[in-house]
Amino acid sequence: MSESRRIILDCDPGHDDAVAIMLALGNPAIELLGITTVGGNQTLDKITRNALSVLVMCGREDVPVHAGAHRPLVRRVEVAPEIHGESGLDGVELPEPSRSAQETHGVRFIIDQVMAAEPGTITLVATGPLTNLALAARLEPRIVERVREVVVMGGGYHEGNWTAVAEFNIWVDPEAAAIVFDEAWPLTMVGLDLTHQALATAEVEERVREVDSPLGEFFIGLMGFFRTAYQEHQGFDDPPVHDACTIAYLIDPAIVETTRVPLTVELRGEHTVGMTVADFRRPAADDCRHQVATTLDHGGFWDLVVEAISVLSAASASGSAAGSAADSGAEA
Ligand code: BDR
Ligand code: CA
Repeated sequence: MSESRRIILDCDPGHDDAVAIMLALGNPAIELLGITTVGGNQTLDKITRNALSVLVMCGREDVPVHAGAHRPLVRRVEVAPEIHGESGLDGVELPEPSRSAQETHGVRFIIDQVMAAEPGTITLVATGPLTNLALAARLEPRIVERVREVVVMGGGYHEGNWTAVAEFNIWVDPEAAAIVFDEAWPLTMVGLDLTHQALATAEVEERVREVDSPLGEFFIGLMGFFRTAYQEHQGFDDPPVHDACTIAYLIDPAIVETTRVPLTVELRGEHTVGMTVADFRRPAADDCRHQVATTLDHGGFWDLVVEAISVLSAASASGSAAGSAADSGAEA
């Protein structure tokens, strides 16, 4: 088997962020070095607590969690209770974490990990607003050439969800997104065009129910709330589990097709702030650093998620962690 992808997950859990965490921890192709949190779906305190609770459910309280930015670079905080509830993870009872987040700020953690690692070995995955990544790039510009790849759930080349043309993560902090998209690192945008294919159907839930575990029930509780929210506020029958698509792409790029295309983030339009503009007019230049995700293998994606939930559930039942982040620089 090829070496696992070493990632830092920058997130705002969030129902679909929670599934991204499960997938990252339940597949041997991924080594999760740590989680950093960013204000987005709910306030920083709430979503940091959610990250810790999800790790309890996954039986992986060894994974370090570092709180990052509590608000966007320029704009006011905007949260999404209609999609994720008052807690940010409504629909389930959240277990009490036995610990708090680490002392070190999330942005500092990202910088320290990338600077300490061999160049080209750490991938940054962002499933919330891009505030932490933008701050990290500004605070320590040398990380840009050392990061292997940045994978962002955000934006869309044909779709918006928070405005007609802007997706939530980009809309919340478009200035940060503009910084991150403009840096010289390779960037893959896993946007709405792709993630709206990742629907948690009744059949998917049935497969997870068959796993018959507390983590499986947790997933089903989350999807129940998420489904109703998407039915009431976004006109969907089933909820799209956006954020987990970033991890699926890293596990098996055959499941998430991509194409190279230059991207920019709109900051000044009267009706288009936060839009991710993809220029498809001609084949991308050889040095194009951007790619967008286009087509999802729905069955393959859900096979990965169900398998991850099974693996984590089996490890919890036998009292062993499915993996260990012990050597990842976690503070005592
Ligand atoms: C994105 O916004 C959040 O509500 C989700 O967690 C996801 O990251 C989808 O637009
Ligand atoms: Ca998210």
